[in-house]
Amino acid sequence: MSSESIQSTLQETRSFAPPASFVSQANISSVEQYQQMWQRGKDDPAGFWGDLAAELHWFRKWDTVLEGEMPNTKWFTGGKINASFNCLDRHLTTWRKNKAAIIWEGEPGDTRVLTYQDLHREVCKFANVLKRLGVRTGDRVTLYLPLIPELTIAMLACARIGATHSIIFGGFSADAVADRNNDAEAKVIVTADGGWRRGKEVLLKQAVDESLKKSPTVQKVVVVRRTGMQVHMMPDRDYWWNDLMSDVSADCDAVELDSEHPLFILYTSGSTGKPKGVVHTTGGYLLGAMMTSKWVFDLKEDDTYWCTADIGWITGHSYVAYGPLCNGSTVVMYEGAPNWPDEGRFWDIIEKYRVSVFYTAPTAIRAFIKWGDHWPAKYDLSSLRLLGSVGEPINPEAWMWYHRMIGAERCPIVDTWWQTETGAIMLSPLPGVTPTKPGSCTQPLPGVVCDIVDKEGNSLGPNEGGLLVLRQPWPSMLRTLYGDHERFVQTYFSTVPGCYFAGDGARKDEDGYVWIMGRVDDVLNVAGHRLSTMEVESALVAHEAVAEAAVVGFPHDIKGEGICCFVTLKSGDGSEALERDLIQHVRKQIGALATPDKIRFTPALPKTRSGKIMRRLLRDIAAGRESVGDTTTLEDLSVMAKLREQEE
Ligand code: WTA
Repeated sequence: MSSESIQSTLQETRSFAPPASFVSQANISSVEQYQQMWQRGKDDPAGFWGDLAAELHWFRKWDTVLEGEMPNTKWFTGGKINASFNCLDRHLTTWRKNKAAIIWEGEPGDTRVLTYQDLHREVCKFANVLKRLGVRTGDRVTLYLPLIPELTIAMLACARIGATHSIIFGGFSADAVADRNNDAEAKVIVTADGGWRRGKEVLLKQAVDESLKKSPTVQKVVVVRRTGMQVHMMPDRDYWWNDLMSDVSADCDAVELDSEHPLFILYTSGSTGKPKGVVHTTGGYLLGAMMTSKWVFDLKEDDTYWCTADIGWITGHSYVAYGPLCNGSTVVMYEGAPNWPDEGRFWDIIEKYRVSVFYTAPTAIRAFIKWGDHWPAKYDLSSLRLLGSVGEPINPEAWMWYHRMIGAERCPIVDTWWQTETGAIMLSPLPGVTPTKPGSCTQPLPGVVCDIVDKEGNSLGPNEGGLLVLRQPWPSMLRTLYGDHERFVQTYFSTVPGCYFAGDGARKDEDGYVWIMGRVDDVLNVAGHRLSTMEVESALVAHEAVAEAAVVGFPHDIKGEGICCFVTLKSGDGSEALERDLIQHVRKQIGALATPDKIRFTPALPKTRSGKIMRRLLRDIAAGRESVGDTTTLEDLSVMAKLREQEE
């Protein structure tokens, strides 16, 4: 946290009780029940989580529920389990075997439905393909795919044989793929020729080809044919998915893995340039994803559930794949953009499949508002019974619009706070219990003990802004950062003694409701995605014309935060051509999601006398605000004046 204290200006007094008709059918339906669960989770975590874990299938029951203390905890040690078995095989002995597991729609309008039995068969076959390609338990496999069923199939196939998957969102560039392949020492990468996004092809295989020039550990490439575009296939390295699948057996036993076996690595941005490989293990993660899906989304056997996240993000891992499939739910998946072929696409999908539970992001909601009420108004959304939000604080106006236009004032809204590192939702209303306030993620779920503290770890009082911490370990927490345990301890456990520090600022109101105030470190939240300012700065500085760069966020109507880059050049003045070149350069180094919104050339950056860039001042300039804070440590006061002049 910077030296500034955190000030909160948001005042919101509206409150919405869960509708009686919802309460009467909810999985958790009374305040007493919630309080009792929460208290037990706090006082007796081992008993609480141990009882719940009995809902999973274990080849061998654990000896100990919880071993060790934060930061080094282990869950369900001695237990043997398999995530793929839990998401698939155990449903096959019930009527669910012919239930739709995935209802998928491609952007061009093509559709596929896979029942649990279908999914099981494809997963077993692909697990055998992976084995044939030399993948063994403990190896890492990179998945770089569009949002198509093969992504779910490949992840569950990895889980089945105990290969740790590392999924990279399709919007990342070749360089980002290479970095992640190298860090994880991936042996195999699964990709597609391309994917569809707003009618255009995303060139995935081409990016993989480029990345492999720099990532020597990858020996084999599997390519799904999705768009049909021409791609280069290198003999003895690249194979078509369909060819490999045509002659493998559909029998593949799920490997009995230790509960603490690493299920996946997922890279996320931290406050330094190098992405962090967040490691999640099997038993605890699965339990977290399963239970929170049931509590927060109130999943019922006949729900049609749609989480719009890409599986390339943690939200997709936990709430498109592992959580709902573990519960035997029907999951809707849509490959493409919300405004293709027009701005009604999401509502069309909800009407068509009679979606009942819908989980999306504030950035999407703000785009819907901008596109106009007539889009959702054209469609029948009466199948919806519950709405969710994730990724960033939802502003009260967007919340109210969601409540009115999409939920018809009938559907509870669950604003869920959590992170890649937490694996599962930590703070959220329970839809049948918690009165909601627009903009607040309300209260901790059972098993979660959170607090808002100052840097010494002292609890703060109502409406005092501070650091959000978790005081007690939980089963789905990250276990380490891949290959860098020291950084793991340093990042999450060194700021506040004895606690997990999330990196977010927050306050609790007089009712104990939590209001997230955003990141307190150098992490941007652009359209719900985490980007480090350092990553964008490193990308800029790698350009031959750039001497120095400072990157800050600024308020953006749709994306929440936009990216503003202050750049000093080695020589000469900036030009529009150079600006375009720099934007392209950042896209190439990181990916389209990091596209700068503004490039500002400046002869110098505001620095302290010790040489630290004063980002606070740059944030003010980027946002068009007056700087009110202290500038006495600024080395060269004229820099600020020059930057301000450019504004006019
Ligand atoms: C932010 C996404 C406010 C927060 C699941 C967190 C939120 C970061 C919310 C994690 C929310 C996520 N209200 N802020 N409901 N949900 N955030 O790892 O800053 O991509 O630290 O995980 O997003 O982002 P990540």
